[in-house]
Amino acid sequence: MQRIDKFLCDQNLGTRKQVKEFIKNGMVTINGETVLKPEQHVDETADEVSFGGRVLNYSEFCYYMLYKPQDVVSATTDGRSVTVVDLLKPENVKGLAPVGRLDKDTEGLLLMTNDGMLTHNLLSPRKHVDKDYEVHLAHEITDAELKKLENGVDIGDETRTLPAVIYRDEPDAEGRCVIHLVLHEGRFHQVKRMLEAVGNEVLFLKRISMGSLKLDETLEPGEYRPLTAQELEGLQNS
Ligand code: URA
Repeated sequence: MQRIDKFLCDQNLGTRKQVKEFIKNGMVTINGETVLKPEQHVDETADEVSFGGRVLNYSEFCYYMLYKPQDVVSATTDGRSVTVVDLLKPENVKGLAPVGRLDKDTEGLLLMTNDGMLTHNLLSPRKHVDKDYEVHLAHEITDAELKKLENGVDIGDETRTLPAVIYRDEPDAEGRCVIHLVLHEGRFHQVKRMLEAVGNEVLFLKRISMGSLKLDETLEPGEYRPLTAQELEGLQNS
């Protein structure tokens, strides 16, 4: 059981203030009865809740797209550093954990969820979910080096890296070379180690996408938002 206003917030229908307003305006029913008090309790597993005449399908899972900033660690707790979970509002935490890790100095797309099955599927080496990284380099890179990266390089692991898709982007504001690496695997510090293998150095790293999910360009570093139904469906079909 939980309060109806909290339940509606968790379904991403609005802020606590907005949903209280919706309730006051008679837009919410529980088992066909209009609710007028935000503190009324609902049994989310048994009651039928409608919003504006539409029955809500209760989901115990939450999915957020976070724009991870630099200097934040991809963990749920850390004795010293701010974690990605610390960036969530307390009412959004709900056992969420990051799907995979980005290095502390890497920024960009991080999916946060409490859906263990989806996490498992997205991280499974058998699935090869593509991850697109924008990489700013310390040195110019030749086409021959890009080809090497594309075909797979020795980064000191048992096996070479899998074939990847690599493309050039416009130079950044400082005139540094920018490339994209689309990887089908996720080894420890993989992008940095791959660039090191061709004698270069990563100065800035940002994850742009994971499978069909693209980083929302309207998010500022540190901001997050729920996935849309379409985004979630795309990931579930990965
Ligand atoms: N590769 C890296 O080297 N670092 C990341 O954070 C992600 C991919």
